[in-house]
Amino acid sequence: MTSVNIALTGAGVIGKRHLKALQSIENINLVAIADPFPQAQETAQEYDVPLFESTAQMLDTIRPDGVIVATPTEHHSEPTLTALEGGAHVLVEKPIMATLAECRHAVEVSDRTGKHVLVGHHRRYYDLVNKAREMVQGGELGQLVSVCGQWNVRKPPEYYAADWRKKWQAGPILTNLIHEMDLLRYIAGDIHSISAETSNAVLGYEKEDAAALIMRFKNNALGTFMLSDQGHSPWSWEQATGENAAMPKSAQNVISFIGTKGSLEFPNLKAWKSEKPGGNWNTPIAATSLGGELQDAYINQLNHFAAVIKGTTAPRIDAQDATDTLRATLAVYEAAQTGCRVML
Ligand SMILES: NC(=O)c1ccc[n+]([C@@H]2O[C@H](COP(=O)([O-])OP(=O)(O)OC[C@H]3O[C@@H](n4cnc5c(N)ncnc54)[C@H](O)[C@@H]3O)[C@@H](O)[C@H]2O)c1
Repeated sequence: MTSVNIALTGAGVIGKRHLKALQSIENINLVAIADPFPQAQETAQEYDVPLFESTAQMLDTIRPDGVIVATPTEHHSEPTLTALEGGAHVLVEKPIMATLAECRHAVEVSDRTGKHVLVGHHRRYYDLVNKAREMVQGGELGQLVSVCGQWNVRKPPEYYAADWRKKWQAGPILTNLIHEMDLLRYIAGDIHSISAETSNAVLGYEKEDAAALIMRFKNNALGTFMLSDQGHSPWSWEQATGENAAMPKSAQNVISFIGTKGSLEFPNLKAWKSEKPGGNWNTPIAATSLGGELQDAYINQLNHFAAVIKGTTAPRIDAQDATDTLRATLAVYEAAQTGCRVML
């Protein structure tokens, strides 16, 4: 197989981001779009592909090798299952599904059909993220002792104009923290348990304005993470990396991974180590910067999807892995509401 045929379900904001990335890739052909709303007609014309009202109708006519599902989260399940049953591999946007019951079903259908479900946790496709993972998991920092991270931004008032944005489902835990939880799991390993506090003291909406997490990883490292969509700061992944052009770059570091042999400031990959082995608080510690250019993770992600379809590589994330990220994220609400540590 030299090239693969891909269809898109859901031609909204992130669906168009995938289409833009596809333009830079030669061996992936866009063959169709499914979206029931009239505005998708313009996108289908622009890309010169047929438009269908649903994934099922599309699969009656066209047999793509893979389907990108970029519908609103509550509509991830149906097109994903339809595509798998129709013989296509799936790249579904994050979070994988709206509920853990839907996740379990997707894992079962993926296993039964032998078709992969990749999930759009796109940060896994940056070299700097993979370099950090290699350093932490390869033991370069020694035994991982602790992880200390934050994502603090102030979203503008108009962001909350629509009533649905005031509900818990649109809050920063499910919208933003899920990316951080996936990143932490990918770099530091699986999470064993979570305790948390949330607050809505700034805006007073149902959704939280801030959350504080304490985590134990399965490797026994401990972690803390502070999150807010009302705290104005330069410390968020998007500002740190400049990934999102709408959020001016701050180039700060937002997570520290701390081990017995040294530490790593992330995402600039500033590695702190003693010049001689066996360093401790009595020996000088020096920093080396290992950071490089940020590539387009969406292009990397689609190239990876094509390689998985061709069978030349294993998925970097699958339905079970993404379910574990969603479970860890949902556990933050449960921990905050019950005041109890949640075991994962
Ligand atoms: N990876 C990321 O960083 C990232 C960023 C933004 C959004 N997302 C995720 O992407 C998904 C979509 O978000 P968005 O902001 O693009 O939403 P959006 O509302 O801009 O677009 C959704 C599109 O899906 C279409 N649609 C709705 N129901 C459909 C169905 N049953 N079949 C086919 N099309 C349907 C709508 O007409 C619309 O064009 C969400 O799950 C969101 O969490 C991920």
